[in-house]
Amino acid sequence: MPQIAPSILSADFAHLGRDVQAMEEAGARMLHFDVMDGHFVPNLTVGIPVLASLRKMTRLHIDVHLMISNPDEMAEAYVDAGADMVSVHYETVRHLDRLLMRIREKGAKPGVVLNPHTPVSVLEDILPRCDFVLIMSVNPGFAAQKFISYSFEKVRKLRSMSNERGLDLRIEIDGGMGPHNVAQAVEAGVDWVVSGSAIFGSEDPLRTFQTMQQAAAQAAVCS
Ligand code: DX5
Ligand code: ZN
Repeated sequence: MPQIAPSILSADFAHLGRDVQAMEEAGARMLHFDVMDGHFVPNLTVGIPVLASLRKMTRLHIDVHLMISNPDEMAEAYVDAGADMVSVHYETVRHLDRLLMRIREKGAKPGVVLNPHTPVSVLEDILPRCDFVLIMSVNPGFAAQKFISYSFEKVRKLRSMSNERGLDLRIEIDGGMGPHNVAQAVEAGVDWVVSGSAIFGSEDPLRTFQTMQQAAAQAAVCS
């Protein structure tokens, strides 16, 4: 069953616990936690102390997306702070094979993120080491950007790569996702759809989340 992962980037940081709890009550299973360092991406968000605090108040699976320049040094600390999944950008990692293994040994699911310009073919050999791949469908750094149209084609390519090799890979997509394009994402082969501004920027975040979740479930049945 595909899942919608609300992104806290568009939540109200003054009431983060409240917003997270609302998503849990709405039926979410995952929470997307965007870490930006003002270096790899031109924006700064939250890090380990905020993650550790959220860990204490939610049972959601916390999906940490590291948009930082030094994931080789920092990724494991996010697992210690309570991440269930940790994804690192292909563009930032020096020793990807080793880092994915270290994240797994610490007890979290390791994932690799690809920027829009990075082709899925770079993952050909490392794919069996990934629990999931996150396809960025905007350039990372900001919420509420426009969906990049060639992203679904990347998802389709990645899904065939994974099927051809008999892998049990989860594919996540992040950026510009909302009720209007969630079904297309699932039809292309996406398992997890991240959504920030479409949910938290809407009049009724709970309802928008549920609309997206239903659309995703329906698309999965039909495809
Ligand atoms: C952007 C972040 C996203 C962001 C998506 O760099 O990685 O997770 O929250 O925001 P929306 O859903 O508004 O495009
Ligand atoms: Zn993200």
